[in-house]
Amino acid sequence: MPEADSQTRTKPAVLILLGPPGAGKGTQARMLEDKFGLVQLSTGDLLRAAVNAGTDAGKRAKAAMDAGELVSDEIVLEILKDRMQDPDVARGVILDGFPRTTGQAQALDALLEGQGMSIGAAISIEVEDDAMVRRVSGRYTCATCGEGYHDEFKQPAVAGVCDKCGGTEFTRRADDNAETVAARLSAYHAQTAPLIAYYDKRGVLSRVDGMGSITAIAEELGAIVDKVTA
Ligand code: AP5
Ligand code: MG
Repeated sequence: MPEADSQTRTKPAVLILLGPPGAGKGTQARMLEDKFGLVQLSTGDLLRAAVNAGTDAGKRAKAAMDAGELVSDEIVLEILKDRMQDPDVARGVILDGFPRTTGQAQALDALLEGQGMSIGAAISIEVEDDAMVRRVSGRYTCATCGEGYHDEFKQPAVAGVCDKCGGTEFTRRADDNAETVAARLSAYHAQTAPLIAYYDKRGVLSRVDGMGSITAIAEELGAIVDKVTA
């Protein structure tokens, strides 16, 4: 059960996590999901699931993902809109890695309006580019529940056993190699970083120092969620 009682909250939160590869979007989104009962919507995870399932959208997305480029707005929006129809979304969502272009941000505004929801906060997790390659290249994930780990920064309490579900199989992402990470970073700076100004103008932007510890960042994000859902 989530720690916070959803009945004490009056508004469903829509939170956006902005940040380059390895900033900690997925790590923090999963912690917020556990703590507040919000739903993590990661377009990266949705796209990887579509690729693995061999869907039409997955087949169209694969080449861009392998190259570290952004998948077209059309495919991403198709997948996201579909997921936004699920009933659990009414609990409030953490958008992890979406939107990533101005076109996606505008489409999100229209989508939320149609669902009677609005953006509570867009949080930019700010990190240094140099740290990102180290973060991403050390990352691995529980194959059973998706919990994320790191060779250096976040290891399971018992080596080889997932803290969350007890799983013993782990995977590493195909796009977590130095060359693709460099392409992902450039895509972030060219196409996604302008959204920081977009949300600043809208008065919903918060900036968080992503170079701190995982728990310190989680505390800062928790305070933002408390504020927007009060
Ligand atoms: P996506 O899956 O979203 O990848 P990304 O943005 O490159 O981000 P990552 O998942 O690599 O990083 P993260 O910020 O989640 O970091 P994490 O918490 O894991 O997208 C993949 C691809 O899909 C894109 O390249 C694109 O092709 C496509 N795509 C997805 N969405 C799209 C969209 N909207 N439009 C178009 N295309 C899209 O942390 C990383 C590691 O660091 C972990 O091991 C973690 O344990 C560790 N760590 C986390 N925080 C800290 C900390 N504070 N200190 C030390 N270590 C930490
Ligand atoms: Mg992620």
